[in-house]
Amino acid sequence: MAAPHAQLAASQFSESQREARRRGLPSLEGRTIVITGAARGVGRVLAESCAQAGARLVLADLLENEGRETAEALSKAGADVRFAPIDLADPASIQRFAADVAGREGIVHGLVNNAAIATGIGGPAFDEIDLETWDRVMQVNVRGSWLATRALAPMLKASGSGRIVNLASDTALWGAPRLLAYVASKGAIIAMTRSLARELGLAGVGVTAVAPGILRNEATDYVPEERHRMYESLRAVPGPQTPEDIAPTVVFLLTHGALALTGQVLPVNAGFVFT
Ligand SMILES: NC(=O)c1ccc[n+]([C@@H]2O[C@H](COP(=O)([O-])OP(=O)(O)OC[C@H]3O[C@@H](n4cnc5c(N)ncnc54)[C@H](O)[C@@H]3O)[C@@H](O)[C@H]2O)c1
Repeated sequence: MAAPHAQLAASQFSESQREARRRGLPSLEGRTIVITGAARGVGRVLAESCAQAGARLVLADLLENEGRETAEALSKAGADVRFAPIDLADPASIQRFAADVAGREGIVHGLVNNAAIATGIGGPAFDEIDLETWDRVMQVNVRGSWLATRALAPMLKASGSGRIVNLASDTALWGAPRLLAYVASKGAIIAMTRSLARELGLAGVGVTAVAPGILRNEATDYVPEERHRMYESLRAVPGPQTPEDIAPTVVFLLTHGALALTGQVLPVNAGFVFT
């Protein structure tokens, strides 16, 4: 029998699942979802929403302590979740992660390629970026997403309704200046989404990308307030956005019904740019 506090936490969580349904969050019950970069930030919020929608979760991150804490917090709230370490810069680490998931979960219904390195908004000009930064950003954001997709593809195919959601950025759509390595990496994510949609579509796996605008979270705390306000005033729906605002779209893209959107890039930025 579960301890009383666990029962309480579980009932709190099923209450939040009911709340999720009231808010129109689609169901991910019976689906196993892997989220990279889920220790904190956007990935953590996406994990919370997927758990509310009823998914079983594997959280992957370089940050082991934070990742385990996040998994523990979600688990205390009644989610079916575990943490597994991954370093997306290291192909062997990605292989180890995939072997672990193959052994424990066996089948994966969804992969969210969320982990990335962001270089600061208003950073160096294109001719001032050092080679090391460029290579590191490409290694984690682009090669890491490719290798994670490749390693989990057999398990996504085996599910019969695999869905991949890639985190792009609207900076790659409108061409944000002084952010070239990051913008180029997100442009590559968009191109990979389209190409992979055609390759994996043959096995019924859907691949989409979401392109958020600047969000209010710890990763953008350093951005000066007037810069935040500039972006926020140019949205069709003016004002700040948080990761919670984009999570319902990501949850939907992980469902069976999202296959018709395969290959598409959805700018989840309240109308800052349109495609
Ligand atoms: N925050 C924003 O305003 C914003 C806007 C548009 C797009 N995005 C995208 O959303 C995603 C999440 O961003 P965030 O704001 O939460 O950033 P964040 O820096 O808070 O989180 C990124 C996560 O990725 C993990 N990570 C970094 N390198 C890794 C590696 N080598 N291996 C495994 N994990 C690694 C980090 O440990 C961290 O948990 C990114 O793809 C980012 O580009 C964010």
